[in-house]
Amino acid sequence: MRVSKCKIIPVQKITDPRGDIGVIEAERHIPFAINRIYYSYNTPHGIARGGHAHKKLQQLIIAMSGRFDIMLDDGCGGSVTYELSQPGEGLYICPMIWRELTNFSPDAVCMVLASEHYDESDYIRDYERFIAEKKILVTA
Ligand code: TYD
Repeated sequence: MRVSKCKIIPVQKITDPRGDIGVIEAERHIPFAINRIYYSYNTPHGIARGGHAHKKLQQLIIAMSGRFDIMLDDGCGGSVTYELSQPGEGLYICPMIWRELTNFSPDAVCMVLASEHYDESDYIRDYERFIAEKKILVTA
């Protein structure tokens, strides 16, 4: 899995004089069924979140409020940083991508739509192990 598989997905927007509605339909607008929704908020200044990869989990990350940066690293030489600051778009992250979230504004709400229930065994929290597992996948 390369960072090129990760992409910004525009959220369908319904606008009328009362404002905007954002709509995300699982398996139509995003390529997975949603089994979990979680969000981080009240993130202290200077804090980094993430710092791991997932073996199987797919995610869509949306800045519901405020802003933050997400650095993606595929362990194969590809890395890219996205700034998320619009509730009208989400960043799709495929499995086996290392990510680090930084530069949270005080009002940042980072919402994550996730393809699986929480499972600690799906995490790779050690970067060296991530690189080793990517090498096995690439040479398999
Ligand atoms: P973690 O995924 O490491 O946070 P982040 O990637 O945002 O930095 O999760 C932090 C802690 O919360 C960790 O102990 C696992 C726990 N957790 C759950 O119990 N359920 C969940 O759905 C999530 C996302 C985390």
